[in-house]
Amino acid sequence: MTTPHNHRLFIETVGCQMNMLDSELVVAALRKQGFELTADVDAADTVLFNTCSVREHAEHKIYSALGRLKHSKKRRPQQVIGVIGCMAQKDQELIFKRAPHVDLVVGTGQLAQIPDLIAASREKRESRIAISLDRTEATRREISDSFQSFDPLRDPEMRPSPYQAFVRIMIGCDKFCTYCVVPMTRGPEQSRPPKHILQEVRQLANEGVKEVTLLGQTVNSYKHTEDGRLWRLSDLLAAMHDTPGLERIKFVTNYPRDMTRDLLEAVRDLPKVARYLHVPAQSGCDEILKRMKRGYTIGQYRDMFGLIQEIVPDCAVSSDFIVGFCGESEESFQKSMDCVREFRFKNSFIFKYSPRPGTKADDNLPDDIPEDVKRRRNNELLDLQNEISEEDNARLIGREFEILVEGASKNEQKRGSADEAAADFQTAKIQLSGRTRCDRIVAFEGNRRLIGSLTRVHVTDCTPTTLLGMVVTQEVQHGSSSLLPILT
Ligand code: SAH
Ligand code: SF4
Ligand code: F3S
Repeated sequence: MTTPHNHRLFIETVGCQMNMLDSELVVAALRKQGFELTADVDAADTVLFNTCSVREHAEHKIYSALGRLKHSKKRRPQQVIGVIGCMAQKDQELIFKRAPHVDLVVGTGQLAQIPDLIAASREKRESRIAISLDRTEATRREISDSFQSFDPLRDPEMRPSPYQAFVRIMIGCDKFCTYCVVPMTRGPEQSRPPKHILQEVRQLANEGVKEVTLLGQTVNSYKHTEDGRLWRLSDLLAAMHDTPGLERIKFVTNYPRDMTRDLLEAVRDLPKVARYLHVPAQSGCDEILKRMKRGYTIGQYRDMFGLIQEIVPDCAVSSDFIVGFCGESEESFQKSMDCVREFRFKNSFIFKYSPRPGTKADDNLPDDIPEDVKRRRNNELLDLQNEISEEDNARLIGREFEILVEGASKNEQKRGSADEAAADFQTAKIQLSGRTRCDRIVAFEGNRRLIGSLTRVHVTDCTPTTLLGMVVTQEVQHGSSSLLPILT
């Protein structure tokens, strides 16, 4: 069957895992209406940008991409161009002003309406906007109700990997760190009912998913009362642990102050739960943390880290840092360096402070650190983190790990399709990559058949970001033929 000429969809996604999940679900909903994906924006009748507002750079990227579409829209007036997600909720009508050829603006809380809005916009040749209430506009209940959780039934065909899936357990955020737009773009914190989450995980596992990553802006703040019973994240983990077929459970992102003993005990006691916690520190300096309104001192972060080590000693911890936040002196910055030295994170994501309109920091504090200083601090912190990651990775050389094989490694993907045309496609060894239970990336040679399986790998070398290894094989007799099975 050929695709109707107005049902070719191009979608570009930027931002965090929440956005990747939202795009997956939007595409799945549109496919049900007969849409097909195209990677060629010029061939598309519907062009969607799923956007991020967390830093200015992410917004620039989208506005430039929109600028490039101005002419194609003139040539193809029937094309529907939509801006969806966080920037849609944040910039609202301003998007039409900056890019008048945009037809649709749909916020994070209105994604379910996208199929109808595309149809209406195409039919009536009118622009449409669907957004949630601003956080100061109404009562908390009204605002919460205006952000609908968008978690329709899943479509296995739409997942980038058949073996891995994101599952939303919360929407929104109530922490209001002073630099951050997310409480505005994603609305009030709301936990999804456990019944829905558990049903979704079961369905995914039935469809062959081996690993789920539970998503929430502050995922360990999860709380839901159902039939008089309070569910915490630890209860959810326990309830989904025995789902047949499911091999691994991860969850991101954790908020340091909400890291509780029951959660860490669940990580310790449930073998399918990854020994990995992403718990951003953001800064190593108390004064800066206070200005960020993070709600903890570095001493409290240290206590939390100590609790992780006490309860789950083999757990890997990773962090985020913002450098060049308002008033960050050289001395304050050195405290972030000390923090990386002390906690030896598995890895850290490091960002230069980007003032965001509508946030407390942007309203009240000058963005007083010059761009070149921010850049230098970013590089220094990253170099230190890489040094530490490499040293810690080097300690793992010679050890064996159970890897969930995710697919071709980045290098292999770069090598491209020439190899794929080779006659020995099924049997040839390629460079694969996967992760340990501590979320460390491992690259190794192996057959494509291993993708999606748990495989033992012996580590032989490393870089700061990747362990390099070899599949562990053992010769055994099986019937009359000699096999080289993978140890499990
Ligand atoms: N909810 C998650 C992270 C959300 S945003 C958490 O609280 O950890 C992801 C990361 O972007 C943050 O951890 C922070 O390090 C960074 N970030 C957020 N706002 C920023 C800003 N205005 N400028 C630079 N980095 C920012
Ligand atoms: Fe933003 Fe802070 Fe909420 Fe994370 S916890 S999403 S940084 S406001
Ligand atoms: Fe960006 Fe929205 Fe995620 S602002 S980081 S896409 S929640």
